[in-house]
Amino acid sequence: MIKLIKPYISFDEVKEDFEDIFESGWFTKGKFVEEFRTEIKKYTGTKYAYLTTSATTALTMALKVLNIKENDEVIVSDFSFPATANVVEEIGAIPIFADVSLETYNMLPSELENKITEKTKAVIFVDALGNPSGISEIKDICKKYDLPLIEDGACAIGSSERNIKCGNIADITCFSFHPRKLLTTGEGGAITFNNKEYVDFFEVKLNHGAKVENGKFDFIDFGYNYRLPELQAVMGIKQFKKLDNIVKTRNVIRDDYLKRITSLGFKIQNICNEVIYNVQSLVFSVPSTVNRDDLVVYLRENGIETTIGTYCLSGTTYYKNKYNDVQKNAEFLENNTITFPCYDGVDVEYIAKKIKEYL
Ligand SMILES: Cc1ncc(COP(=O)(O)O)c(C=O)c1O
Repeated sequence: MIKLIKPYISFDEVKEDFEDIFESGWFTKGKFVEEFRTEIKKYTGTKYAYLTTSATTALTMALKVLNIKENDEVIVSDFSFPATANVVEEIGAIPIFADVSLETYNMLPSELENKITEKTKAVIFVDALGNPSGISEIKDICKKYDLPLIEDGACAIGSSERNIKCGNIADITCFSFHPRKLLTTGEGGAITFNNKEYVDFFEVKLNHGAKVENGKFDFIDFGYNYRLPELQAVMGIKQFKKLDNIVKTRNVIRDDYLKRITSLGFKIQNICNEVIYNVQSLVFSVPSTVNRDDLVVYLRENGIETTIGTYCLSGTTYYKNKYNDVQKNAEFLENNTITFPCYDGVDVEYIAKKIKEYL
């Protein structure tokens, strides 16, 4: 089976540091977490970075630091993984679904402007499948209306727009280190920002509400434990060193697919000129004559694992039942896009051959 993903990390790479952690017994809040945070800040160019257990917990904290409350409206990109809207729902705010471009799969500026009301308190722009195309336009609109911009960069570590790395574009960015991502810690996430005013909030809230002075804990607030452990931090550090090369290699494979299947009617997710794309997921829309689900089954029967692009949030059972506001482009993309395996060693020629056979 040609698997959809392959992790860029082996046990050999982490073994020595894992032994160090087991010998010291220092499993949390240690030197590896600090090093991973430093790497993230260095790589993205941001002033502050905190590690979390996932992008979901990072997004939750982003909404909390912005003081988003019950019945506030948060405008979210509609083509994403449900976590993007779930975090809004979880705090009692209202996700407002903004439709996306059929080219880039990202939030349409016109949709954002149309959906802003006096109840809008924040915007969550998703780098769909890791693609930040169009984020600067969204940022300009947010500035115009004085709205904070959260970048759901769950898929976007290693991507950049206009020479600025994802993590350093929006007011707050949230990353995921889930195994589907380029850089994985098993589960894990990070939050980055440049605003000093947020620091105290994260220092206290991510430490059970405690302010620590001279080793003494004063619980000045209620708080959370969303900490990434030391073992996971080691995994993250090792992959950072390889990240830019991984991105380059994936773009070469992407070009190979482009050459082989565009002529068959497959249309690739558009990446704007000013973007470096990490190719977190290599997604095409299928020709209009093709039933995407049948193609996925056919390829699986031929030893090739593929999957859908991602989800139309407003069309999921929960959100459709609650808000009945399904966005057309996002719905089309959920039904007509396919993700292909993209990592070194993938036999693109064979995959293209099987697609031709299916057609
Ligand atoms: C766009 C997007 N946002 C949020 C998440 C949630 O990430 P995590 O699994 O780290 O909570 C994902 C996960 O796939 C995602 O793709």
